[in-house]
Amino acid sequence: MIHPITKVGDDILQKKAQRVAPDELSNLAPLIPDMIETMRHAKGIGIAAPQIGKSIQLIVVERKDDPLVLVNPRITFSSRNIEEDEEGCLSVPGIFGMVPRSKKIRVKAMTPEGKIVSLKTKGLLARILQHEIDHLNGTLIIDRITQYIKRDGPKK
Ligand code: NI
Repeated sequence: MIHPITKVGDDILQKKAQRVAPDELSNLAPLIPDMIETMRHAKGIGIAAPQIGKSIQLIVVERKDDPLVLVNPRITFSSRNIEEDEEGCLSVPGIFGMVPRSKKIRVKAMTPEGKIVSLKTKGLLARILQHEIDHLNGTLIIDRITQYIKRDGPKK
């Protein structure tokens, strides 16, 4: 089911999302295909649960055929090496800008099956993960953009 996407100004986007206990994972299961469907329908490359109105620590990142789904993701390492690149956000329509992010990060999280994983990522995936984890902490790109970019339409 496609959900409406919460937009900047909605309080849920500014608060810290709730951690998920392992015994709550089964309740979460139906939400995951909905998040994937909503993200793809909006032509996004990542989505966080607060963007569909659920203040819980759950994110989805697009990958070919097989989206990455993480519960309670936490950044355990961020490289000092920073790179600026353009970002947009489904919750901040029409706004694009340069956002500085660590080039490499390590993320510890739980899978929807309850397995604890630690991912070493770099480049675009590291950027998207930082963006989605920001959503779980109530931070939006407008809090991070160093330079706004004018463009006509959505990028991704
Ligand atoms: Ni976003």
